[in-house]
Amino acid sequence: MASLLDLTAQGDVATIGDDAYLNRTLQLMTPQQLYELWERQQWQSQAIDLERDKEQWAELSEDAKEEHLWGLSSFFVGEERVTTQFSGLVMAYEDEQEEAFLTTQQVDEARHMQFFDRYYREVMGLDHDFIQERLAFVRKDVTDAFVELFDKRLVEMGRRLIDDPSDLEAKVDFVTAYHMVIEGTLALTGQHFMLDYYERNELLPGFAEGFGNIARDEHRHVAYGTWFLQQKCADPAMRERVQQTLAELLPLAAGVLVPKGYSLGDDYEFFGYTSQEQAEFAYSALTRRLKVIGVGMPTPSAA
Ligand SMILES: [Fe+2]
Ligand SMILES: [Fe+2]
Repeated sequence: MASLLDLTAQGDVATIGDDAYLNRTLQLMTPQQLYELWERQQWQSQAIDLERDKEQWAELSEDAKEEHLWGLSSFFVGEERVTTQFSGLVMAYEDEQEEAFLTTQQVDEARHMQFFDRYYREVMGLDHDFIQERLAFVRKDVTDAFVELFDKRLVEMGRRLIDDPSDLEAKVDFVTAYHMVIEGTLALTGQHFMLDYYERNELLPGFAEGFGNIARDEHRHVAYGTWFLQQKCADPAMRERVQQTLAELLPLAAGVLVPKGYSLGDDYEFFGYTSQEQAEFAYSALTRRLKVIGVGMPTPSAA
């Protein structure tokens, strides 16, 4: 019989096409299995070859450079946020296997931030001395929705866990925000379309390699979040909490990648794909994960 890993990318049920599998009885990969998978999938952010990228970057028009810088900025700042705001969840581990997996996720997020930092430094030419100076520079590009989601809501949720790591409601809220909304709905959607764009156009191959590794890690992280919420959502009160958090945060997440000059609800394009195509991809991935967790999609009126 095929294992869940054979059926999915990295145990992430959003990559299952056959709806027959998608219900609460689906046995997900455990933190121990996900930890072992992580051991088999190491990569080095500092070793990816960026020479071809430097040549291609030098040939891009100023407008094209601006567009790439804008598109990547929320990912660079986002990786910094999810690295530095993760410690509360590590403190909230419930057994050694979960603790082992969660520490791997924090290392992954730091590696993702390091990859972006290296790319901005070596290819895009932001030659400041420190990561925080490059972050401050690219922050000019992030949207108000980004600031609300990553600087306010995520930080508050992380602090609640640090204050009391045994607070299960705080842990469910954090995983819903972090794994379901930020990684599952936002990051993996952007990554899907951007990777497709770079690969189809044979553009920035070093970036595509690193970003592909990042997306592989993100599926593994979301697999943990889905496993965790499936366990806790045996309790109807937790199911309701998850739905409420989603209803609050999904509209914010939808606003993160809206380009300058557009509002949420407008039709726009991101790396050649319509806002409608992106919304459908994000919606279908979230729906699949929620079916396995056993939570209904929040209705738009609740949001
Ligand atoms: Fe990441
Ligand atoms: Fe992640």
